[in-house]
Amino acid sequence: MSIIFHESSKTFHLYNGEISYLMCVLPNGHLGNLYFGKRIHDREDFSYLLEMKRRPMSSCVFEGNRKFSLEHLKLEYPVYGSSDYRYPAVEVLQENGSRISDFVYVGYEIMDGKPKLQGLPATYTESEEEAQTLCVKLKDEVTGVVLELLYTIFAQGGIVARSAKLTNEGEKSVHLLSAMSLSLDLPDKEYVWMQFSGAWARERHVKERKLEQGVQSVGSIRGNSSHQHNPFVVLRRPSATENAGEVLGFSLIYSGNHRMQAEVDTHDTTRVTVGINPQNFDWKLECGESFQTPEAVVVFSDQGLNGMSQTFHKLYQKRLARGYWRDRPRPILNNNWEATYFDFTEDRLVEIASKAKECGVELFVLDDGWFGARSNDYAGLGDWVANQERLPRGIKGLSERIEDMGMKFGLWFEPEMVNKDSDLYRAHPEWILQTPQRNSCHGRNQFVLDFSRKEVVDCIYEMMYQILSEAKVSYIKWDMNRSITECWSAALPADRQGEVFHRYILGVYDLYERLNTAFPQILFESCASGGGRFDPGLLYYAPQGWASDDTDAAERVKIQYGTSMCYPISSIGSHVSVVPNHQLNRKTPLHTRANVAYFGTFGYELDLNKLSEDEILEVKAQIAFMKEYREVIQFGNFYRLKSPFEGNETVWMSVSEDKKTALVFWYRERNVVNADFTRVCLEGLNPDFLYKNELNGTENYGDELMNLGLITTDSTAGEPTDEEELCSDYESRIYILKAETN
Ligand code: GLA
Repeated sequence: MSIIFHESSKTFHLYNGEISYLMCVLPNGHLGNLYFGKRIHDREDFSYLLEMKRRPMSSCVFEGNRKFSLEHLKLEYPVYGSSDYRYPAVEVLQENGSRISDFVYVGYEIMDGKPKLQGLPATYTESEEEAQTLCVKLKDEVTGVVLELLYTIFAQGGIVARSAKLTNEGEKSVHLLSAMSLSLDLPDKEYVWMQFSGAWARERHVKERKLEQGVQSVGSIRGNSSHQHNPFVVLRRPSATENAGEVLGFSLIYSGNHRMQAEVDTHDTTRVTVGINPQNFDWKLECGESFQTPEAVVVFSDQGLNGMSQTFHKLYQKRLARGYWRDRPRPILNNNWEATYFDFTEDRLVEIASKAKECGVELFVLDDGWFGARSNDYAGLGDWVANQERLPRGIKGLSERIEDMGMKFGLWFEPEMVNKDSDLYRAHPEWILQTPQRNSCHGRNQFVLDFSRKEVVDCIYEMMYQILSEAKVSYIKWDMNRSITECWSAALPADRQGEVFHRYILGVYDLYERLNTAFPQILFESCASGGGRFDPGLLYYAPQGWASDDTDAAERVKIQYGTSMCYPISSIGSHVSVVPNHQLNRKTPLHTRANVAYFGTFGYELDLNKLSEDEILEVKAQIAFMKEYREVIQFGNFYRLKSPFEGNETVWMSVSEDKKTALVFWYRERNVVNADFTRVCLEGLNPDFLYKNELNGTENYGDELMNLGLITTDSTAGEPTDEEELCSDYESRIYILKAETN
């Protein structure tokens, strides 16, 4: 890996074994993009790529050079209003009302490793050899605003991490109306756009369409990254598949309002912009102040979608997630939410926990309802003190009882929220986000605390610190059950109200950081009504996230499949729950519910006392299975083989680093009578290893399994038989393949 600067042509070349990223200083001093893709040879001069060809009539050109128009150039951090009519990366509103700026190259710096981004989550390095960072400095002379563009290239993987910092070195304040993290101009539009969208209980479904002229974008203006659109999009070549072809993945390490956009212009070039959504964003930059954008990561893969996903998985698992739990297999937990909802006592919880312990569960999690006057969702949020009627000896007493049983104890919080029926709200009604003289909408009867204010974050921190320091808490589920409305902070002047959304998220990050620091061994799991804030920003503080409130196995197959496009399996919170399922009343077999939940953090969301003896035996076997294989599943290499969005069957697999163990998950949504004979070609095995299939006793070499395929035919042909094999809807199997090597 290296970053080279060719002085004569003012060209930067960032490269490693897989990719090249080329930029140069344009004749007007702006920074232009030359190329991003598979590694190419270095050359002193790539200026032939600057196609400064005249286009008739419609273009505006610079005086003195009829061929120089920004409209047709590929730019690194474009501005609107000086001959480029595509969407800009930055917009600076000045005192005289102008929004024109002209960022001209000043110089550069190359650093080993990667600098931290103040107050923001970002990828990191553990040694200076892992990456190099280029900082290109540009300045707008009229306003005095300095722009620093950061590019980090890692030694491994087709990864470039980007962000921008704007500093006002001028004499008048300005307003940033847009400050994106990444802008990348691509020379054509031959891509399929993929987005990961949905709704509550239907998160991150794969949706795709061909890029066309005009703008296609997804985003959030809800204050959280949202159930609706994940801050992750993919551009794949139309011919690219799971395992071959060129793919670009764009991910924003941010948990608030975002916009991921591709604009195809009239000459079929594509501009991708990624960053904080400019809608509702207006950041006042006083003289001497700086604004740092969140980090965006772009991954190039010529090994298809799986190649891209594996690059993201490793990066986000090892160099975004941090702390004690980063590399550790995740504890198998039992959460009481779907077992009791708000209806529990200490003894009832202990009863659930005892059965869980008997089955091999390692962590008991007490969900919502343990604090203040929280007997339903109208009251209590904000009062982080145990409810003495339910828990006479507080969280301390309950956590000690759980620990004495030989299990760890975990606790639910929703730190950013308050109910009006709470002591906190009665004491501080001005602490919620609300607009004067306007109605305040609620969500689930709750209001959003103004986390842009330090005193609010301090107060919540104190309450949480108190509980966590006196009780034995090993895990926290941090929830966030509504989006922001009437966004306005009593603590900020009128011309800074456009900062509230971002300041709010900075407050969330600050609280996470303080708790991570004070309690480094606590495992955090993020949650927002399920997967409403499942984003890379939170992975920095919480290495796992509750993927969805939908615990139905059939729905989960889709949600987990879409989630796996960007996020590591170790980050996907997934549990077995009861049937009929509480979200959609569906019945799926117990083994299928477990087979799906294995591909994540694994746990139970039910009262095991209510299961039959046979089911308990099955649960004990499931837990033993997960303990044996969770290292492979959570930290191995993951491959998607058949998509639930394309057919009746879904297949995916995890392979251990040493390739000696592989687990293949096969799932069929609807039973099919007189069904086809089916095979699936596996991936990632060692062609020379002989693998024993523990499900059916067969033995095959890796090359057979990868080229001829694993036979997955349903031997019942869809009809009920007396044989062991089952046939019904929502059927599934796990094939355990073990290499017989010495
Ligand atoms: C959200 C979460 C659930 C549960 C409830 C508690 O909906 O996603 O898992 O914690 O809140 O109120």
